[in-house]
Order: sequence, then structure tokens, then C-alpha cells
Amino acid sequence: MDDRRMRIVASGDYLHTMGPETPETMGFGAYREAEARLALRFLPTGPQTAAVPGAELAGADALLMLGQYLRRADIERAAATLALVARAGVGVDKIDIEACTANGVLLFNAPDALTEGTAAGALALMLAASRQLVAMDRLTREGRWDDRVNHRGREIYGKTLGVVGPGRIGGELIRLVAPFRMRVLAYSPRLTPERAAAKGAQAVPLDRLMRESDFVAICCPLSEETRGLVGARELGLMRKTAFLVNVGRGPVVDQDALVAALRARSFAGAGLDVFSVQPVPAGDPIATLDNVVLCPHAVCDTYELRADVLRSTVVDLLAIADGGMPHAPVNPEVLGTPRFEAKRAALVARMRAGA
Ligand code: GLV
Repeated sequence: MDDRRMRIVASGDYLHTMGPETPETMGFGAYREAEARLALRFLPTGPQTAAVPGAELAGADALLMLGQYLRRADIERAAATLALVARAGVGVDKIDIEACTANGVLLFNAPDALTEGTAAGALALMLAASRQLVAMDRLTREGRWDDRVNHRGREIYGKTLGVVGPGRIGGELIRLVAPFRMRVLAYSPRLTPERAAAKGAQAVPLDRLMRESDFVAICCPLSEETRGLVGARELGLMRKTAFLVNVGRGPVVDQDALVAALRARSFAGAGLDVFSVQPVPAGDPIATLDNVVLCPHAVCDTYELRADVLRSTVVDLLAIADGGMPHAPVNPEVLGTPRFEAKRAALVARMRAGA
């Protein structure tokens, strides 16, 4: 590989999900444009349930991660040269952050590039679930016109939206629903009334949010704090006419409890982009329910968003090569550590030598 360029390897799930696409249509145009400074190599194809194999990272300066796992042993194996992990997305729950930090590896993600697409996806799920769009589509195709009376929707205008995790995505969702004149409640563990108000929401405890919302939108990341946050008890507080959407992470909601509640119709329905196990296994009860709209963790996946995400990682990689910072470091504490700085200095010097 060219010594004057940053050596980047892309996780094998890129090729795994490639289908009829090319790197260009997958959004890699920004990498092509920067190829005088960035040398990109794809790892052999592998599913998102797999981990990036450390042995394949030998000599790499940077790893571009789509959605695979990145485990401690593999980080340690690659750590002699690996200085950077760019998560081409927002969630970092499949990456061992502690191991990155311990091994002088700077992890950064591309949160801004996903905000609008994911918030729009959450709104799409709210509307699809409450208007029973998937069922309506089926009725129309099957000539069951009169059955529509059994699938009457629920209004969104003037209702109450409860956002669990009013961060970037949740905040954008609040902005998006303004024309629907919704009252907005919000919960996160350390949310202050002032921060909620600045986003157009009222900060409330989780129980109150579950009890008063017509639409509960889970927008938070997965962490030890949010795992199982919404369980049987919380779901049991929801209104009979309410809907739950999840664009955060599946394990934030207890999926067995969710299935039981939906089956019992203790609330009206759900729109889900994320699940406790992904891909959803064949025969999973969640896929047998008629009051859910399901999406294979792709509700934000547009050509525009993919290109924006990759453009964001290119900008950050080049900034680091120029001695700067990525715009959203996940473990900024690694900056200034001898292990990271030695790798960064060697990389910058090598790339400057080629300039
Ligand atoms: C999408 O869910 C992401 O975390 O990038």
C-alpha cells in the first residue's frame, strides 16, 4: 500500500450488504475524491453479527466501521498501528470503547450526519403505525376495500409526544412535529427543565411520560443506563390508544414484554426499526403481530444520508492527518496519551513526507 497515504480498512459488512451497489452508489465518492491522501481497502465480506477480525487490520492506520462488533482482542492485535476508528454512523454500542482508549485508539462517529434522516424515520414510523399503513396497503392489494373500517387510524395532530432521549435525533423529531401542534414531553436521566424547554419539550419523569404520551419515541443510545429502561411495568403505563416507536436501540425496550403488551393490545401499536436481536430471527413473535410496523434497522437509510456519513468521516480523517480533531470524538481522553500521540505523529509525518 502507498506509504504516503492514510491506510484505512472498511469493515466487511460493507461488502456483505453491497448487493447491486458499487462503492460510489454506497456513498464512497468522498473517499475516491480524497484518494491522493486516503487509501481504502475493504475487508472480506462478513455479516453485522460478526466482529472485525484484528488479524486483517495489520498495518492499518484507521478502521472505518459500518455495523460490526469491534472487540478488545482484535483492537489489541491491531493496536501497534491502528490509531483511529471511524464509526460510520452514530451508535458505538458494538465497539469496546474502553479497549480503544487503553490501546491508544481514537474513536469518533458521525452523529450530525444521521440526525435528520433518523428523526424523519421516527416520524415515518409514528405515521405508519398510527395510520396502519402496512395493513392498508395489504387490504388495497387484496381487494379487501371494505375491511378498511377495521383499520381506522389515530390522529397525530394535537396529541402528546413523549421523547425518551431528547438528544440530537430526539431534538430534531421535536422540531419536525411542530406543525402537528403536539405537546412534547421528554425524559433522559439528567435532563434539566431548561434543556428540555430549549428543545421545545417539558422534562418529566419516565413514568409520567409513558402514562401521558400518545406517541412514545425511543431515541436514546444503548448504554448500561438505558438497557431495559422500558420494561413490562413502563409499557403497562401506556394509554390504550398510544403507539411506541423505537429508532434508538432494541435492548432499551424489553422485547418480550413489548410482544406481550402488543399481543394483549394493552396499547395500540408500535413502529420498530431496532430489535433485541438483529437480524430478527425467523419465527420471532415480534414478526407475527399485526399491530406493529417493522423496519430492518434501515429507517434512516437513504443514499443522501449514506453519502453524508462517509463525507463526515473523510473530513474527520483528513483533519486528524492535518494535526486537528474529529468533530465528534467518543473517547477524547485518548488525546494527549503517549500511545495515541506517537501513532498520530508517525502518521502525520509519513503523510507530510508525501505532500
Ligand atoms: C444507526 O443506528 C447508527 O447507530 O449509526
